[in-house]
Amino acid sequence: MASSFPGAFKVADDESLSLLRMIEPQVLADPHLLYRALRDHEPVHWDPYMHAWVVTTYPEAVTVLTQYSADRTPLPAYLDRLGLSFMKPFSEVMLKQMMFMDGSKHSRLRGICSAAFTPRRVEALRAEIASIADELIDKFMASGRMDMIVDFANPLPAIVTAKLLGVPVEDHRQLHAWVLDLAEVLGNFQHHPARVGEIVRSLEDLRSYVAARMEEQRRHPGGGLIHSLMTAEIDSQRLSDDEVIANTIITLIGGHETTTNLIASGFLTLLRHPDNMNHLRRHPEIVASAVEELLRFESPVQHTARIAPADMKLGDKTIRKGSRVVAVLAAANRDPNRFSDPDRLDLLRADNRHLAFGWAAHFCFGAPLARIEGQIAFNTLLRRLSNPALLETRLEWRENAGLRGLTRLNISFEPGPAQGI
Ligand code: HEM
Repeated sequence: MASSFPGAFKVADDESLSLLRMIEPQVLADPHLLYRALRDHEPVHWDPYMHAWVVTTYPEAVTVLTQYSADRTPLPAYLDRLGLSFMKPFSEVMLKQMMFMDGSKHSRLRGICSAAFTPRRVEALRAEIASIADELIDKFMASGRMDMIVDFANPLPAIVTAKLLGVPVEDHRQLHAWVLDLAEVLGNFQHHPARVGEIVRSLEDLRSYVAARMEEQRRHPGGGLIHSLMTAEIDSQRLSDDEVIANTIITLIGGHETTTNLIASGFLTLLRHPDNMNHLRRHPEIVASAVEELLRFESPVQHTARIAPADMKLGDKTIRKGSRVVAVLAAANRDPNRFSDPDRLDLLRADNRHLAFGWAAHFCFGAPLARIEGQIAFNTLLRRLSNPALLETRLEWRENAGLRGLTRLNISFEPGPAQGI
C-alpha cells in the first residue's frame, strides 16, 4: 500500500485505519493515502474510534446521501450526558438549519430560502465578483508576492457574501472572523477546551449581529438576502426570526470557508500541475469544467454525516437503525470504479459528477454562486499573475478534518499578463 510515512495504514490494524488519523499533520498533508487504504480494505468500515461507519466508495456514499437521515443534531440532554454541554448553543442553531433536517421540514425551509436565493440574484453578482477580484489583485500587484489566502481567497467570498446578504461590506472581516471560529466546530474531530468560550461568544455575537440587521430591515426595508429570507413566502408561510438567523448563519459558513478553500487549494493544485495551469491560462473558456475537476480533486468539504433511519444494508454490511455514518465525499471523488485514473488532474474530465457539493435533497444550496466565484477567481488570477511560484517550503493545512484548507499560501509572481500567450 502506498504511503509516505513508515508503518501507516496497516490493513489489519483498525487504529491505523481510523478517520481520526486526520488530526495528524502527515495525514492532513495527503488524506488520500488514508482514504485509499480504507477503500481498499472495506468501503463500509466500522471505525470504533469515531463510533461511526466510514464510507469511502462512490455508490455507497450516494446511497447514504440519498437514503439516510440528515437529522443528526445532538439534543441538549445528550450533550450534557457526553460532557459536551458547551455545544448546546450550537445545537439550538443547528436544529433550525436546513442542513440538519429531513423530509417536509427540510423542503419547507429550503423552498422558502430558494425563493430568496434566486438564480437572478446570483447572476446579478457576476459583474460585481469580477470587479472585487480585480480590485483585490490591484492592491498587491506591484509587490510581486501575496498570501493567496489572506489577500485574495478570504476576502473575495467574504465581500461577496456581505453583498449577497445586504449587510455593510466593511463588516466582512468581522463576519469572516466569526465564521472561522464556527467552522472550527463544524465537522471537526478535535476541540480545544481553551477555545470553547471564545467560539460560543462568536456564535452569540453573530446571532445578535444578524438580529440587529433584521431590525434595520424592518425599519428601512432594503435589498439583500436577509430581507428576502424575512419576507419570502411559500403557501403563505414565512420563516420565524430564529430560522432567518440560523439559515443566514449557515449561508455565511457555506459561503466563506468552502469557497476560500476552493480558490486557494485549487490554485495550489494548479501550481503543482503547471501544464494544466498553462492550459487553463491559454483557454479560459474551459474554466467551468476546470472548477468541477478542482472540486473533485481537492474537495473543500471532505465528509458529511448521516444517521441510519432503519436497519439497512450498505455494501456487505448491515447498518443498525440510529448508527452514525460518515460519507467521505473526498474519497468517493477518487473512487477508481467511478472516475478513471482518479488521482490524475484532468481539467476537461467528462462525466464529472463529483460529490463535492453533496447529492440529492441537501445538494449545496450555494453551488451556483460558488461555481461563479471559482470560475472568476481562477480566470482573473491567471490573466493577471504571470509566472506564479510557490514560496512555501512547508505547507500547513488547517486542523479541520471536515473543511479542508491551508493556513496560508505565499506565492511570488510577475505583474501583468503572462508572457507568450
Ligand atoms: C466551493 C464551495 C462550496 C462547497 C464545496 C460546498 C459544499 C457543500 C456540501 C458538500 C453540502 C452538502 C452537505 C450535506 O449533505 O451534509 C452543502 C450544503 C449547503 N451549502 Fe454549500 N458548499 C459551497 C459553497 C456554498 C455557498 C457559497 C453557500 C451559500 C451562499 C452554501 C450554502 C449551503 C447550504 C445552505 C447548504 C445546505 C443545503 C441543504 O441542506 O439543503 N454553500 N454545501
